[in-house]
Amino acid sequence: MILVTGATGTVGSHVVRLLTDQGVPFRAMSRRELPGGVRADSWVRADFDDPASLARAVAGVDTVFLVSVPPVPTPDHDLALLTAARAAGVRKIVKLSAIGSGERFEGSTVGAWHLAAEEAIEASGLAWTMLRPTSFASNFLWHRTPILAGDPLPNLTGDSQQAVVDPRDVAAVAVTALTSDGHNGHRYDLTGPQLLTFPDQAAILEGVLERPIKIADVHALDQLPPAMATGVGWARAGGASYVTAHVPQLLGRPAGTFEQWVRDHREAFAATP
Ligand SMILES: NC(=O)c1ccc[n+]([C@@H]2O[C@H](COP(=O)([O-])OP(=O)(O)OC[C@H]3O[C@@H](n4cnc5c(N)ncnc54)[C@H](OP(=O)(O)O)[C@@H]3O)[C@@H](O)[C@H]2O)c1
Repeated sequence: MILVTGATGTVGSHVVRLLTDQGVPFRAMSRRELPGGVRADSWVRADFDDPASLARAVAGVDTVFLVSVPPVPTPDHDLALLTAARAAGVRKIVKLSAIGSGERFEGSTVGAWHLAAEEAIEASGLAWTMLRPTSFASNFLWHRTPILAGDPLPNLTGDSQQAVVDPRDVAAVAVTALTSDGHNGHRYDLTGPQLLTFPDQAAILEGVLERPIKIADVHALDQLPPAMATGVGWARAGGASYVTAHVPQLLGRPAGTFEQWVRDHREAFAATP
């Protein structure tokens, strides 16, 4: 049995869909109920802040897909899941981490909380796979309101390039790692196929949506929360400016482009959430 945490989220919801399509048994975990389409006996309501609920979530589970989005940058949610998983005899954890975790930028560590969680999982003796994607194409959905209002989108990363990844590819790689032991002990940086600046991405969005997209440079990174400023500063300095072959190697097909992701989500930009 596979436990999918973050099951109502961007990546987790695609993992649930793929496992359903493949007929692989799983249990989805979240605090909110899952939207329709998943059998009720395949879902557990649990909260990383509630150890008893985590114990119920991992009971009888062999492999966990671990997605944590703590309200502040801390490995606590990962560690709580790890404690419950070890007690329940879980064999393997596939963790959704982030590109650059552990890199140094201006005296601080990028993704320090993801790194601490990765290290605890590695030290636990459980089998593991770490997925370290770059920025998700879907982050542009956060900007639906300014896009519809014609307001500028904040460009935090200047002219640096990133190979924005389609979260559906991240989910597909996760399913590959969850359903095969061939990826145990591997750490994969997951990128899209093409290096793009934020203005490049805005231009693609503008072309597909056929509406003007304005951007405004944000220089004052010190106004961001410190952990976020470290990661953004690292990316802005070109830290994430590379393409890897992991998505095509693991999936046996090219990684999805940013443009294709926008085309597939045109409708989502038609109205505010
Ligand atoms: N966005 C990016 O560009 C990017 C890039 C690289 C890495 N990442 C990493 O990807 C992860 C986020 O993945 P995502 O975008 O798929 O997540 P997401 O869309 O933000 O969804 C978060 C999920 O976590 C669940 N959740 C939140 N708090 C919870 C709690 N206390 N207990 C139980 N479940 C909880 C939410 O479900 P309920 O609210 O229903 O409980 C939801 O299913 C983060 O670790 C992030 O660092 C993101």
